[in-house]
Amino acid sequence: MSMTSTSFKLLLLGGLVVLAGCERPPPESIQRGYRGTGMLQVYNPRLVEATREANPLPAVLPAADAAGPRASLVFQNVKVLGDTSAAEFTRIMTAMTAWVSPTQGCAYCHDLQNFADDKLYTKVVARRMLQMTRHINSDWKTHVVATGVTCYTCHRGQPVPSNIWFKEAPQVNGPSFIGDNGGQNKVSMVTALMATPTDPFTPFLLESKSIRVYSTTALPDGTNRSSIKQAEFTYSLMTHMSKALNVNCTYCHSTRSFGVWDGNPPQRATAWYGIRMARDLNVAYLQPLTSTFPANRLGPTGDAPKVNCATCHQGVYKPLYGTPMIKDYPELVGPRPDPVAVVATN
Ligand code: HEC
Ligand code: HEC
Ligand code: HEC
Ligand code: HEC
Repeated sequence: MSMTSTSFKLLLLGGLVVLAGCERPPPESIQRGYRGTGMLQVYNPRLVEATREANPLPAVLPAADAAGPRASLVFQNVKVLGDTSAAEFTRIMTAMTAWVSPTQGCAYCHDLQNFADDKLYTKVVARRMLQMTRHINSDWKTHVVATGVTCYTCHRGQPVPSNIWFKEAPQVNGPSFIGDNGGQNKVSMVTALMATPTDPFTPFLLESKSIRVYSTTALPDGTNRSSIKQAEFTYSLMTHMSKALNVNCTYCHSTRSFGVWDGNPPQRATAWYGIRMARDLNVAYLQPLTSTFPANRLGPTGDAPKVNCATCHQGVYKPLYGTPMIKDYPELVGPRPDPVAVVATN
């Protein structure tokens, strides 16, 4: 009798130890798809609350006077923001400092004796970042809609955004007795500790390898030539996307079939554009800056730092919960019509 009660107590203790690993408070779920499709978004209120604290919003600077001579005339070496008024230009410089280098100040990008000088690499990169931000906000509305992004969306008050990626260094001993790990079977948070390839970014967010691996027919008929290894790369990318947005696969897919688009939520199409946008930013903006960055900013194979979904999203389904970013900073959308020219045509 006492034996049984001891083993019962042990069982209870063991059970408590096991349950201690469970999440508290109990996760909740909401149905997002049609009834019966099992498209549930599972979330833990405590963890959602933590992401709110990790994503504070910056204060918006008071609007500046849009009248007066253009910055291109007032200053000596302005190549992107030339269409703004001098007051708007100064406001953007102040905002950029708060978004990117609040502790370092203007000196992070400028020789304080000569603001027109381009000798600091940070200023050269920042100018390209201004062009990139305008490009995102005016040419990628398919993804960022009218919400848009500012420098803060990625930088969050630090010169190097928290989420960037590099190509992986090749395996040190190469294909050996133990075998080449082929870029997988390693402990990596990119893949949420799975054994799938740990760099799904190079093939999909830099190169444009096909993400599609699903067969469209029931029986093998030669239409699907994708290998299991290719499917694993796709799976790694999907895991990154889910983690970056803190959502389940069913946020974008009806898991009845991952290959079909029918009956999927619109978020999947937004994500499709997001993949193309991230690739475009890496190919057209970050990679060409390779020789501008100092060696200590480059990756193990000498490549430039690059963006993925987490660079903007940072664990939230819409960066900063979809707070409109460009509403207060129209200068970051694109060149605006010269007010003088507008008057002239009226
Ligand atoms: C993150 C980098 C960065 C920071 C921080 C920054 N700037 Fe700039 N600044 C730039 C870039 C890039 C340009 C050129 C913009 C262009 O070409 O359109 C510029 C241009 C200028 C110019 C024009 C100089 C000329 O004659 O051509 C002035 C003035 C200026 N900044 C002032 C400031 C002040 C004041 C601060 C601090 C409140 C500041 N900047 C902070 C990147 C920065
Ligand atoms: C889509 C994300 C994104 C946006 C938006 C963005 N940046 Fe960046 N920025 C990056 C990445 C990625 C890097 C590379 C990080 C590194 O330097 O190691 C970077 C690097 C920089 C650097 C160099 C920092 C260093 O110390 O090496 C500066 C300066 C900078 N950005 C300024 C800006 C400014 C100013 C804006 C807004 C006009 C802006 N960025 C908008 C992603 C972004
Ligand atoms: C944020 C939206 C989003 C999330 C979350 C997401 N996916 Fe995807 N998935 C997509 C998009 C978009 C494509 C199509 C990509 C393309 O073709 O460029 C895709 C494609 C796929 C494919 C290839 C389908 C084919 O046609 O061969 C598979 C398999 C897949 N996803 C599985 C998953 C799994 C498993 C998860 C959860 C771990 C997941 N996805 C999470 C958006 C998402
Ligand atoms: C340059 C910053 C940036 C990058 C990089 C980025 N996104 Fe987004 N994404 C946004 C913004 C801003 C929104 C909000 C748009 C809105 O208000 O509807 C958004 C919205 C979305 C949405 C819609 C969410 C919803 O609930 O409607 C999905 C899905 C999404 N992004 C997926 C992705 C995926 C997947 C990637 C990587 C392949 C990615 N994003 C990369 C900025 C970015």
